[in-house]
Amino acid sequence: MYQILHKEQYSEKVFKFRIHAPQMAKKAQAGQFLMVRADETGERVPFTFADWNREEGWIEFIFMVIGKTTTLLSQLNEGDYLKDVTGPLGQPTEMGPGRWVVIGGGVGLAIAYPVARELCRRGAEVSVIMGARTADLLILTEQFRELPLKGLYITTDDGSEGEKGVVTLPLERLCAAGEIDRAFAVGPVPMMKFSALTCEKHNVPITASLNPIMVDGTGMCGCCRVEVGGQTKFACVDGPDFDATQVDWNDLAARQATYRTQEAEAMAHLHEEEDCPCHRK
Ligand SMILES: Cc1cc2nc3c(=O)[nH]c(=O)nc-3n(C[C@H](O)[C@H](O)[C@H](O)COP(=O)(O)OP(=O)(O)OC[C@H]3O[C@@H](n4cnc5c(N)ncnc54)[C@H](O)[C@@H]3O)c2cc1C
Ligand code: FES
Repeated sequence: MYQILHKEQYSEKVFKFRIHAPQMAKKAQAGQFLMVRADETGERVPFTFADWNREEGWIEFIFMVIGKTTTLLSQLNEGDYLKDVTGPLGQPTEMGPGRWVVIGGGVGLAIAYPVARELCRRGAEVSVIMGARTADLLILTEQFRELPLKGLYITTDDGSEGEKGVVTLPLERLCAAGEIDRAFAVGPVPMMKFSALTCEKHNVPITASLNPIMVDGTGMCGCCRVEVGGQTKFACVDGPDFDATQVDWNDLAARQATYRTQEAEAMAHLHEEEDCPCHRK
C-alpha cells in the first residue's frame, strides 16, 4: 500500500502525487517509470518519475487526466492509498553535457519536464520546445519557465499561444543555426516522427521516449512491442527511450490505436456512474 503524502493540482487536468515508496526512491533514475492501478480491478498504467527523495523515501509523478484511470486517480487525495505500484521500470534516459533541445507535446510534456529539469541540474545547456493543438492543452508552462533554460519556445496549431504551427518550426531553426548537439522528444507519434526527420536532416542525434500501451511493464506480455532499426524491442524493458531515426512510426501509431473503442467505452461507463467526478462539479 502506497500512501499519497501530497497532492498538487497544476491545472484543471494536471496533478502531481508524492507517494511514500522508500524502496523505489532508493533506486529511481531519471527517465524510468512506475506502473499504477487506481483500484483493485483497474488496469495498470505507466507514469514517469517526476522526482524522488532517497532520504525521505518518497517518489513523485505528474499526470494528465485523459481517460478512465487518470480520472479515477485524480479523485484520490492526500492520505489515500494506491493499491498497486511497481517500479522503477525501464532504462534511465541517457544524459550528458552539451546543448540539448527537449521537445514535448500534449501529455508528453509531463515526461519532458523531469528530463529537462534533470538535464539542467546536471549542467547541460537546455532549450525546450512545447507544442499543443491549442493553448488550453499546454501543461506545466509555469514549471518550465522556472527552469534555467537557454530558450523556451511554444507552438500551438491554432496560434492561441506562442508561434502558430508545430514544434518542428523552432526545431528547424535551432538545428539550422547549429545551436543543438542532442535532442529528446516525447509526445504524439507525428510530432516525434517529424522531429526525428528534422534532426536527421541536420545530423543531430535524437532520442524519443516511446509510449505504446503497456500492461505488465516487465517484458512478459509483449504488449509494448515496437520496431526499432528493423528489430523488435519491448519499450518497457529496452526503452522507453530509443534512437528516433530508427523507429517504425506507422507500427507504433497502429499499436496505440488498438484499444481506442474500449477506452472510449470505459470512459462512457464511468460517466454513467453516480460517483463520476463530472457529476460533482
Ligand atoms: C513509459 C510511459 C510513461 C508515461 N509517463 C506519463 C507521465 O509521466 N504522465 C502522464 O500523464 N502520462 C504518462 N504516460 C501516459 C499515460 O500512461 C496515459 O496517459 C494513461 O495510461 C492514460 O490512461 P487512461 O485510462 O486515463 O486513459 P485511456 O482513455 O485508457 O487511454 C488514453 C490513451 O492513453 C494511453 N494509454 C492508456 N492505457 C495505457 C497503458 N496501459 N500504457 C500506456 N499507455 C496507455 C494510450 O495512448 C491511450 O490511447 C506514459 C506512458 C508511457 C508508455
Ligand atoms: S508491457 Fe508487457 S512486455 Fe512491455
